[in-house]
Amino acid sequence: MVVGDGHLNSATGGKDQDSSLAPSDPQRYAPAAEGSSASIDAIAHRIQESLSVSKRHRFWETQPVGQFKDLGDASLTEGQIEPPSALSEVKQEPYNLPVPYEWTTCDIDDDGTAAEIYNLLANNYVEDDDNMFRFNYSKEFLRWALRPPGYFKTWHIGVRVRATKKLVGFITGVPARIRARSEVVLMAEVNFLCVHKKLRSKRLAPVLIKEVTRRVHLENMWQAAYTAGVVLPTPVATCQYWHRSLNPKKLIDVGFSRLGARMTMSRTIRLYKLPASPATPGFRKMELRDVPAVTRMLREYLSRFVVAPDLDEKDVEHWLLPREDVVDSFLVESPENHDITDFCSFYTLPSSILNNANYSNLKAAYSYYNVATKTPLLQLMNDLLIVAKQKDYDVFNALDVMENESFLKELKFGPGDGMLHYYLYNYRLRQPFDAFRTWIGTLVGSLL
Ligand SMILES: CC(C)(COP(=O)(O)OP(=O)(O)OC[C@H]1O[C@@H](n2cnc3c(N)ncnc32)[C@H](O)[C@@H]1OP(=O)(O)O)[C@@H](O)C(=O)NCCC(=O)NCCS
Repeated sequence: MVVGDGHLNSATGGKDQDSSLAPSDPQRYAPAAEGSSASIDAIAHRIQESLSVSKRHRFWETQPVGQFKDLGDASLTEGQIEPPSALSEVKQEPYNLPVPYEWTTCDIDDDGTAAEIYNLLANNYVEDDDNMFRFNYSKEFLRWALRPPGYFKTWHIGVRVRATKKLVGFITGVPARIRARSEVVLMAEVNFLCVHKKLRSKRLAPVLIKEVTRRVHLENMWQAAYTAGVVLPTPVATCQYWHRSLNPKKLIDVGFSRLGARMTMSRTIRLYKLPASPATPGFRKMELRDVPAVTRMLREYLSRFVVAPDLDEKDVEHWLLPREDVVDSFLVESPENHDITDFCSFYTLPSSILNNANYSNLKAAYSYYNVATKTPLLQLMNDLLIVAKQKDYDVFNALDVMENESFLKELKFGPGDGMLHYYLYNYRLRQPFDAFRTWIGTLVGSLL
C-alpha cells in the first residue's frame, strides 16, 4: 500500500547488477566480498548516503521528521515528534500554488480521471538511474492501491494547469494502522508523488507534500509512512532490490541484466529454468473463505517485527485477495486436515522499456507477504516463482526485508542497483543509522 517508489516503491526496482553469474560463483554471492560488484555497489551507495547526510534539505529540515544531526542522540524519546494541534487550528484552505496551477481532487472511480493519472505516471513517474525503465502502474493497480478500507477521496490530490486543465502533479495518501514496537498508530501512507518532467526543480514537490499533510491533519491523523529511492532525513530502514530472472533472454535483450562472464545464452536459460508446476501438495490460490485464516497467520507473523502494518480481516481481503494482474496470493492447505499452513503473494507492477526496438513492456512480479509455518520458506518461494513463470512474468523482484534474505541467494536472485528507503513522518524511532536493513522487518508489504 504505501508510498513511493513503489511500491510502493525505487522505481523499476533497479536493474540486475550482473544477472548471469551462477549462484555457485562466490564473487557474486558472497555478500559484499571485496572487489565484487556487490561490494562496489554497496560502497557507492554508502558514499551517496553520506553525501546526502551532509546535504542541506531546505524543505525537510522544517518538517517533524528525524533529522540527520539527531542521529544517535539518546536523549530523544521514541514516538510522536510534535503533538497534534487542535483541529480548529488546521489550515482550512489549500496551500498556494504558483499562479498557472490549481488543485484538483482526483476521482479515481471516474474512468477519464483514472486515465489522466495513469498517463501522468506512465510518462513521468519513477525511472531507474540510467533511464531505461519506468514504472507503469495499471489503472486497476492504482484503484487497488488508492481505495483500501476507510480511504479518503480528498487524499487523492492532483495539480492541473489552470488554463488547459492538464494534470501535471499528483500525490496520494491512504489510511493504515501501523504498529511501531507496541504502539499502533493511525497513519497516512503517502505514495505516487509525481511532478511532470517539464515542471521539475521548481519546488512544487514540497507544496504537494504540505497539502497532503494538511488534508491528513483534517482527518485528525498526525503521522505518515512513505518510501523513496532517494535519501531524505531520515530513513528508518533501507532495503535493496533483488531480482530473479524468469525470462533471462528478454531481460538481457532489453538491458535489464547482462550475460555473465563465461556464460552463454543457453547456459543462462538453463540456469534459470523452473519446474512446470508447484511442488507443495495443497498449494492453491487464496479465496475469500481463507481471509480469517490468512489474517490470523499474517498477524502472528508480523508481530515479530519492530514496525509492521496492523492488518485486520477487511485489510487482508482488500490487500491480499487475488485480483487479476494486480495481486496474486497462494496458500498451502494441508491435504490431511485442511489447515492453512503457509501463505505467499506478489503484486504486479510492469515497467515500460524505454527506447528498445523489440520490447516495450517488462512484466514484473514483486514479492509481497510470505509466511511459512510448515512448508520450508525456500520451497514455498520456489513454488511462487513457478506460478509467476507460468503467468509469463519476466522477472520476480524482492527486497531484502522481512525474512527474504533467507531464500534470495539460493533461489538465484541477484542484487539490483535499486534501494528503497522507508520513512516515518512525525514519529521517531531510535535506531543507529547503520542498522537499518535487517532491523525494520517490514513496513514493507504495505509500501507498494
Ligand atoms: C519526486 C519529484 C516529485 C520531486 O520533484 P522535483 O521537481 O524534482 O523537486 P522540487 O524542486 O519540487 O522539490 C525538491 C524537494 O523535494 C524533495 N523530494 C524530492 N523527491 C522526493 C521524494 N521522493 N519524497 C519526498 N521528498 C522528495 C527534495 O528532497 C527537496 O526537498 P529538500 O530541499 O528538503 O531536500 C519529481 O522528481 C518526480 O516526479 N520524479 C519522478 C517520480 C518520483 O520519483 N516520485 C517519487 C517516488 S518516491
